[in-house]
Amino acid sequence: MKALRAATPYQDNNGQVPPRGVYSGPLFKLSHDWPTSPLPPIGKTPWQEAIGNGPITVENASAYAAVLKAAVADNAKQLIMRHDQWDAAKAGWYNEPWVGSLREAISGTYPAGTFGPSIFPGTGLRATFNTHVLTYYDKRAAYSLRDFWGESSMKPALKTEKAQFQEGAIIVKAALFASADPKVKADWWDAMAGAAAWSLYLPVGSESKPQVWPGYVAQFDIIVKDSQSSPTTGWVFMTLVYDKDAPGDVWDKMVPLGVQWGNDPQATSPDMPLKENWNNPKAPLYSTQTLGWGGRLTGPNDGGRNDIAVDGKVIRNAPNSSCMSCHSTAEWSTTSNRMNSFLLPSFATKAAPYFQLCNDQGKPDPNGTVICSPAPGSKEWMKWFQNRPGTEAMDPDSFAVDFDEVFSFKSLKLWWAAVGPVEQVAPMLMRTPAQGPRFNQYTGAPLPKAEDESR
Ligand code: HEC
Repeated sequence: MKALRAATPYQDNNGQVPPRGVYSGPLFKLSHDWPTSPLPPIGKTPWQEAIGNGPITVENASAYAAVLKAAVADNAKQLIMRHDQWDAAKAGWYNEPWVGSLREAISGTYPAGTFGPSIFPGTGLRATFNTHVLTYYDKRAAYSLRDFWGESSMKPALKTEKAQFQEGAIIVKAALFASADPKVKADWWDAMAGAAAWSLYLPVGSESKPQVWPGYVAQFDIIVKDSQSSPTTGWVFMTLVYDKDAPGDVWDKMVPLGVQWGNDPQATSPDMPLKENWNNPKAPLYSTQTLGWGGRLTGPNDGGRNDIAVDGKVIRNAPNSSCMSCHSTAEWSTTSNRMNSFLLPSFATKAAPYFQLCNDQGKPDPNGTVICSPAPGSKEWMKWFQNRPGTEAMDPDSFAVDFDEVFSFKSLKLWWAAVGPVEQVAPMLMRTPAQGPRFNQYTGAPLPKAEDESR
């Protein structure tokens, strides 16, 4: 809590820097020289041309994905495969403010989820692992960082119009998987054989001293503002996952897991077909074990499956999210100074953690480790599976931030933790990352029991 109060918007890391004798390579530098004026309109893009300048469909989504992947390839290859030479400022890719207090010093990643062998059966996973993420905004997207956060990032423009991205804006996010077991450093998952490894500076397991530790690039998200191809939501979400059996170099082996451009609100039962989602039938097994509700797209990093309690019954590892479901909660209330709905289907409460928890018997219990959930497909549940444009908030009394969870779930939260009145901020911080092991640091959802105990 102290550290978060003292956080500054442009710090590079959490203050734990490896001594020269331990690591002598380059350290992460925050890239925040955001463009100060909007970029000229982008015109027709290669990914729009790839689908004949019409709407994206289940049939043409894989062609779209291939061209969008190619559009970021120059920078992404450098970032992923030649990480020690990566220079984000030179590449014209930028970071968000306020997250530095969570970043490890070498690669600038910050903690996300924790997952274990029970979730990935038959894939040769031999350790519980933590995931660590790093987001970059391209020039066009970074202009919106500047427009919203201003020069100092101390007084963000808290309104919908200022929290919107220009057409053509691209945001990428790398997710790295690192063993959480100090006794197993490498070779703990057959699925990661040959994957790009970055050095991270982390405490491992229950150790408190950080060490240089490998993280493997397993997932690479690419999202693009494209109202022509995706007129309803204005965005296309896609993700690449590492496939050790795919041909080519490490970048070639990052294969699409799928593409999503809406939440398929009409599909109120998991067996109904999806019209706004394409999943790659050739994606590697492990990446298909974490798909979201009704097969909607989510990746192995995304926490799209959780232990939930429905009508007093606990369902373990239940698919209860999707890329765009979770991201459609991106909003901020200047009255409550937080997001009024949780990322995942749940019942809002007035006190932290602001959604109802249930115990192993499926009964409401503030010390529970299961999310009390509306019934899958019910009206309350479907609130998380609607299609809204990025200008429309999920709840009244909130402004919308155009699907950007970094703004609403990370940067604004950390900004408020640093500048808000202490008595208001304290209960919220119970749920920010770097807290106890009971909660997924990424989504704030309770951790599945087995994973929790193994830490
Ligand atoms: C259960 C919630 C959840 C799901 C599912 C999810 N995300 Fe996110 N995503 C987040 C949160 C929270 C952040 C902000 C924190 C961070 O950077 O990790 C985020 C950040 C991002 C970012 C950085 C920019 C931004 O919008 O904040 C991208 C890009 C992204 N996610 C893409 C995806 C894609 C693609 C998928 C599906 C394959 C996906 N996400 C699934 C919660 C989710």
